[in-house]
Amino acid sequence: MTDTVLAVLNQPSRDAAPHDPDADAYTWVEPLEEHLQVQDLGATRGDGVFETITVVDGHPQALEPHLARFGRSAAKLDLPAPDTDVWRQAVEAACARLDPVREAFVKTVMTRGVEGTDRPTGWVYAAPSPDSTRARTEGISVVLLDRGYRHDVERTSPWLLQGAKTLSYGINMAALREAVRRGADDALFVSTDGYVLEGTRANLVMRVGDRLVTPRTDIGILDGTTQADVFRFAEEQGMETAYELVTLDDLRAADALWLVSSVRQAAPVRAVDGEDRPVDAELTTRINDFLLARSV
Ligand SMILES: Cc1ncc(COP(=O)(O)O)c(C=O)c1O
Repeated sequence: MTDTVLAVLNQPSRDAAPHDPDADAYTWVEPLEEHLQVQDLGATRGDGVFETITVVDGHPQALEPHLARFGRSAAKLDLPAPDTDVWRQAVEAACARLDPVREAFVKTVMTRGVEGTDRPTGWVYAAPSPDSTRARTEGISVVLLDRGYRHDVERTSPWLLQGAKTLSYGINMAALREAVRRGADDALFVSTDGYVLEGTRANLVMRVGDRLVTPRTDIGILDGTTQADVFRFAEEQGMETAYELVTLDDLRAADALWLVSSVRQAAPVRAVDGEDRPVDAELTTRINDFLLARSV
């Protein structure tokens, strides 16, 4: 047992050669030692895909939807298909190897590999999660930032890889720093043609009366595993749910807003561009209780 664990995969995809034909599916290595070659295209070009999966009491949540999205992201980048069985095995083994802790996370990363080798690099890293209590209970403030693309970018310009979970998160991190410069906790992206998209690392969910609404997932945003489970919760409670094109007027008119994601789960939005927003504390607690109790 240890507080951070790292497994390096021997053959991340069955479509490419293993790193060592005689080695096991994955090898445990020291998390704080160097393992990545300097010419790995994940490091030099951000050319790869990843997932971050919440682990509660040693149990990975929404594992199958995460693995499915990992595969879809890889396909969008024309990467070899991840071998889902070996990734699942490595994730479950990493969870079992971690010191018991209430909330942790597992990251799966697959890069295009070292330049010229045609052999992806893959690893699974697990560690305890930072404490999200404050965001979940006190809420977060966000600013609206223009993403610079229209809402139909995924269809018109698939090479921009909007909607894929790639390692190129430099832009998301720059948006987060801009939000902090403007005195907020996070940013919410808006398309050039005025539709609300997603956060820097989260999806938007709104309560409109007794319905939950989220932006349609074909507009260059991630199809969130947490958002899907928030909708599952709502439907179990008899609430209606909908995927819609969300305008700035819709955002303004909503009764409550959340940014939802793995690890932080549901963070109520208490201000947008410096304007206070109502927080539905009771529903927030019920959503987070549901999310933290997920057994699939
Ligand atoms: C840009 C973006 N949108 C949405 C999400 C939420 O996805 P999930 O709920 O599957 O973690 C993430 C998660 O990291 C993200 O990076």
